[in-house]
Amino acid sequence: MKDGKYFVGIAGFGGIARFAHYNGWKKLNDVEILAIADPSEEAREIAKNEYGIKYVFSDYKEMLKIEEIDIIDVCTPNKLHYPVVIDSLKVGKHVLCEKPLAVSAKEVEDMILWSKKQKKKLMAAQHLRFKRESVVLKKYIDEGELGEIYFAIAHALRRRFLPVTNTFIDKNLSGGGPMFDIGVHILDLTYWFMGCPEVHSVTGITMTKLAKRKDIKGLWGEWDREKYNVEDFAAGFVKFKDNRGLNLVCSFLANMEKLDDFSTTLFGTEGGIKWPNGKLAKEKNGVLQDIELRFDVLPDNPPHHEEIRVFFECVRDDKEVPVKPEESLQVIKILESIYISSETGKEIIF
Ligand SMILES: NC(=O)c1ccc[n+]([C@@H]2O[C@H](COP(=O)([O-])OP(=O)(O)OC[C@H]3O[C@@H](n4cnc5c(N)ncnc54)[C@H](O)[C@@H]3O)[C@@H](O)[C@H]2O)c1
Repeated sequence: MKDGKYFVGIAGFGGIARFAHYNGWKKLNDVEILAIADPSEEAREIAKNEYGIKYVFSDYKEMLKIEEIDIIDVCTPNKLHYPVVIDSLKVGKHVLCEKPLAVSAKEVEDMILWSKKQKKKLMAAQHLRFKRESVVLKKYIDEGELGEIYFAIAHALRRRFLPVTNTFIDKNLSGGGPMFDIGVHILDLTYWFMGCPEVHSVTGITMTKLAKRKDIKGLWGEWDREKYNVEDFAAGFVKFKDNRGLNLVCSFLANMEKLDDFSTTLFGTEGGIKWPNGKLAKEKNGVLQDIELRFDVLPDNPPHHEEIRVFFECVRDDKEVPVKPEESLQVIKILESIYISSETGKEIIF
């Protein structure tokens, strides 16, 4: 920080950094994106020439040497979150990191240790929590409108939308397939809606059924069938210590009616709802009620921008971040347990 201004460095200047994070930071007064780091020459050229970023580095460690930088925004492929987050915390930067926060629970535990040791903020960029439909629904839930949510069905299902780049299909970069890419979003959201209960156990299956087949086509173009080494389908069952439960199903390529089903259905004792459509199902005086929540009257700020704004305010005002790293730890532990359960055929007890 200098003269009341906060400085941000972005590690990884690819798709999400350019199209979502850059504009989120640019909206904020008293904040400047001072530097980016990316091993891709093309990404560095774009940052310098099209986005006007002052300092560009091929190695993020060089960027970390800039003392004025207060916040590192990590937008690298998943597997690289861990080293960048740890090194950033070690030199005293606050860290916002894209999802999944890390690819193993052990890595998240280390991140939490360093964030506490250095007294620096750490938050996973779970932008769906900042979508207006999520913010409103969470208020309804916390006010008891649904009663006790005893079960949820979380879907991150796509019929033919497989992200084609190595960032998502090569386990050495992604750490996993649709579970880590899109499952983490709907799981985090559902877990938060349910009040982040303590996990008792997890069982799951993961498989690659369609992604290696040449006769299967994706609506986002071709991918390298040989290189593809992550699951294309995963399902898990989470049992909580208070005997509530959650089902998670994720896929990049599923033979199903709709092109996309990105939703979570919450079953509560006083009402049920399917996010994000806002159709609330209740019963009163022996009469079934279908209530439609109208979100369209509220401002529809891009959730990535909201997430960045709120994170920045937590840094500036020294407040607790809303996506607590301890909650992300449970989310990552659940996903990791689904892989382990699939490999070992066992139920993973927490
Ligand atoms: N929240 C969302 O909606 C959302 C959407 C897309 C991606 N993401 C997440 O964002 C991250 C990046 O995804 P993307 O779509 O931008 O991928 P991308 O492949 O477009 O960009 C990743 C960039 O990171 C760079 N990189 C690789 N190694 C690096 C290193 N050691 N140091 C610095 N930079 C490095 C690459 O050169 C590339 O430019 C992933 O974790 C992904 O899960 C989130």
